[in-house]
Amino acid sequence: LALASDDVARLIRWADDFPQPGVRFADLTPVFADAAAFADVTDALVAVGRDADLIAGIDARGFLLGAGVARAMRAGVLAVRKAGKLPPPVHSCSYSLEYGCATLEIPADGIDLTGRRVLVIDDVLATGGTLGATVELLEAAGAEVVSIAVVLELEALGGRGRLPDRPLTSLLKI
Ligand code: PRP
Repeated sequence: LALASDDVARLIRWADDFPQPGVRFADLTPVFADAAAFADVTDALVAVGRDADLIAGIDARGFLLGAGVARAMRAGVLAVRKAGKLPPPVHSCSYSLEYGCATLEIPADGIDLTGRRVLVIDDVLATGGTLGATVELLEAAGAEVVSIAVVLELEALGGRGRLPDRPLTSLLKI
């Protein structure tokens, strides 16, 4: 599993002290806006997905990746939302971030996740709180998380350690 070119890494926009002092934020917006780089990352994520039938993309950049990958795989796509965006009832899970605390939600009716084979996708793995909460949320709703994939893993933040024994793939590690 590999990216076709170095362009993805080159296109990442780094922001110091965002969203708070001491945090270095990786913004993948320019990666997604570049046709070749977006195709490169989505193709690589499709290869991770294999037999998934539902792609869960995490708010907000994970939505873009998730939809692109789902379309290529002819799988469904599920947006894992930040709190307060979905009408009740919802499944929710709170978690701590590198900067603060957050809650993620998915609908608790209208969609039956029992037995669905889910590939979870996000842009960046930092402390692992976001992905950990997403896995918890999906499994509580009856889904099977068959794979987790991110474009960029910030290894120094140790997020992988919060997802022990999970099939976790990152396309780039920094
Ligand atoms: C960023 C990133 C991941 C999360 C990773 O999202 O997109 O979702 O942080 O951090 P963690 O591994 O420490 O949990 P952010 O909350 O900044 O939201 P955004 O995608 O809407 O910018």
